[in-house]
Amino acid sequence: MHATVIPEQASRAISSDMPVVRTAALEIDDVSVSFPGRSGAVDALTGVSLDIACNQFVSIVGRSGCGKSTLLRVISNLIPATSGAVRINGLPSEDYQRKRKFGFVFQDASLFAWKTARQNIELPLEVLGIGSAGSRRARALELLSLVSLEGFADHYPAQLSGGMRQRVSIARALSYEPDIMLMDEPFGALDEFTRREMHDELIRIWRSRSLTVVFVTHSLSEALYLSDQIVVMAPRPGRVKAVVPVLHPREADPALRASAEYIRQTEELEALIHAQ
Ligand SMILES: Nc1ncnc2c1ncn2[C@@H]1O[C@H](COP(=O)(O)OP(=O)(O)OP(=O)(O)O)[C@@H](O)[C@H]1O
Ligand SMILES: [Mg+2]
Repeated sequence: MHATVIPEQASRAISSDMPVVRTAALEIDDVSVSFPGRSGAVDALTGVSLDIACNQFVSIVGRSGCGKSTLLRVISNLIPATSGAVRINGLPSEDYQRKRKFGFVFQDASLFAWKTARQNIELPLEVLGIGSAGSRRARALELLSLVSLEGFADHYPAQLSGGMRQRVSIARALSYEPDIMLMDEPFGALDEFTRREMHDELIRIWRSRSLTVVFVTHSLSEALYLSDQIVVMAPRPGRVKAVVPVLHPREADPALRASAEYIRQTEELEALIHAQ
C-alpha cells in the first residue's frame, strides 16, 4: 500500500510557456533497510512506499536518524534494499545507475581542492570517458553559467565561498544530464541569506532542466519554499509518516515566507514530526 500517489500530470510549478518534458517517475515499493548493529539490527527503513511523478520536487524531512540519507542511497542504488524494490520509469534502480541518470549532491560540496571549478565539473565526464576534452570543457563552462558562476572557472575551491562551492557541486551533479537529482541537505552549512539565494537558483535550474528532485532537509521553511510535496519521516524504525502536499503555488516569491498559509503549514509539519 503506497503512502501516496502523487498526481501523474507534470508539476503545476512548471511555467505554462515551457514544454513539459517527462523525466523520471520513481516508485518506491515497500522498501526496508536493516544495518547490522552491536545490539542487533538497526531498522533504518521499514516498509517505505512512495510514488514520485516526473518533474516533481519532493522534500524529505524528519528527525535525525529517521532514514532520510538511507532512502536517497537506496534510490540511487548506492546501497541495496534489504527487501522491497525501487523502480524508475519501470526499470530497476541499478539500470538507471548504469545509465548515470542520478545526480547526487551532498551536504558538503566535496570538491577536489587541487582542481579548479571547471575541472571539478569535468571530472565525472572524464572518469566516465564521455566526450572529447574540448566538449567536456565547453559543457563545464555552460554549467558554470547555469549556476551563475561565469568568471570563476579557474578558481580553486578554497578561493570560493561556501555557496559558490555548493553551486559548483550542483553543476558537477548536472554534468552527465541526470533525470533525477538527489540532494542530501545541500544547503545545511550555508548562512540564511545565501541559502535563500540558492533556493531561487535551484528552482530556476529545476525548471530549466525538467528534473525530478528528491531533497533532504532539516529546514521546514526550506522544504515548503521549494517543494510540491513533503514526505515526513519518523525514526526507530525509520518510516514514512505522512506525505503533505504544499499548498502554495511555487512562485519563488520571498514574501511567501511570511504568509499566514506558510506559517500554518510549518506548524502542521512541526506537529507531525513531534508527534512521533
Ligand atoms: N552504514 C551504516 N551502518 C549502520 N547503521 C547505519 C548506516 N547508515 C545509517 N545507519 C543507521 O540507520 C539509521 C538511519 O540513518 P540515516 O543516516 O539514514 O538517518 P538520517 O535521517 O539521514 O539522519 P540525519 O538527519 O542525522 O542525517 C540511523 O540509526 C543510523 O545510525
Ligand atoms: Mg542524513
